[in-house]
Amino acid sequence: MEDWAQCLDEAVRVARRAGQVVACAVQQEKCVRSKSTPTDLVTEADQQVEELIISTLRSRFPEHRFIGEESSAAGVKCELTDSPTWIIDPIDGTCNFVHSFPMVAVSIGFAVRKELEFGVIYHCFDETLYTARKGHGAFRNGVRLQVSKEKDVSKSLVLTEIGAKRDSATLDIFLGNMKKMLSAPTHGVRIIGSSTLALCLVASGSAEAYYQFGLHCWDIAAATVIIREAGGVVMDTTGNTLDLMSRRVVAAGTREIADYVVKQLQPINYGRDDSDPDNLALTSDP
Ligand code: IPD
Ligand code: CA
Ligand code: CA
Ligand code: CA
Repeated sequence: MEDWAQCLDEAVRVARRAGQVVACAVQQEKCVRSKSTPTDLVTEADQQVEELIISTLRSRFPEHRFIGEESSAAGVKCELTDSPTWIIDPIDGTCNFVHSFPMVAVSIGFAVRKELEFGVIYHCFDETLYTARKGHGAFRNGVRLQVSKEKDVSKSLVLTEIGAKRDSATLDIFLGNMKKMLSAPTHGVRIIGSSTLALCLVASGSAEAYYQFGLHCWDIAAATVIIREAGGVVMDTTGNTLDLMSRRVVAAGTREIADYVVKQLQPINYGRDDSDPDNLALTSDP
């Protein structure tokens, strides 16, 4: 079996470097454009940071494949094959970045034979580094992470996010799902504007669950390893095994809370991240 520790070390190095670039860029004037919808924002920093990460990793691992948010937006096919593949979100929380709202991260996941091997997430504002490698635990700045053991949803804090699609049908389902979670009753529902950092909060035991429709593989690849290695569950909103390309996810500290959330949710339909329905990015569900 191959040892991917060297790749993980490189991911940590480049995530820290990228995070420093983001932290500098947040203080400068930004050129903000929109992509698919007026609320789907992108800045020059998103593109520059992705270029930095991919060129650095490609020079070290020329035979590997790369999936990145901004490369996909520029037309590079988003495809997960059996080859070692890096899955990169250069700035997660672009809208936060634009407003200097301090929830912004660099996310780098790595999969081999469609199985996630490790994940690295760097919180650019407070320099916190989250890492996890399959079978080796999850860490925040080197300190081991453990999810919440809470099984009772009425004692839970739940996180969710809404993507850039804001038509009234999507918003109705989103608000309906939120109402169900609030009236469970949970202790509360939060939206922080960064799916990767929301998932890191679940991994850290600061929230019991997270769900979202409409995210992409680069929003969840790294964080999925981190939550699983912290003892939590990550699955499809139907309760089935997570498919990284399906654009929907439920994560929780315990199976009981994950199952509860799954039962409450009305689905919001988004297209897949890839165009090939057989190209399932299956990741084993513990
Ligand atoms: C977005 C953020 C946001 C989530 C969106 C993502 P981006 O990522 O994680 O919280 O609601 O679905 O697309 O575009 O800032 O990398
Ligand atoms: Ca984006
Ligand atoms: Ca993202
Ligand atoms: Ca992004």
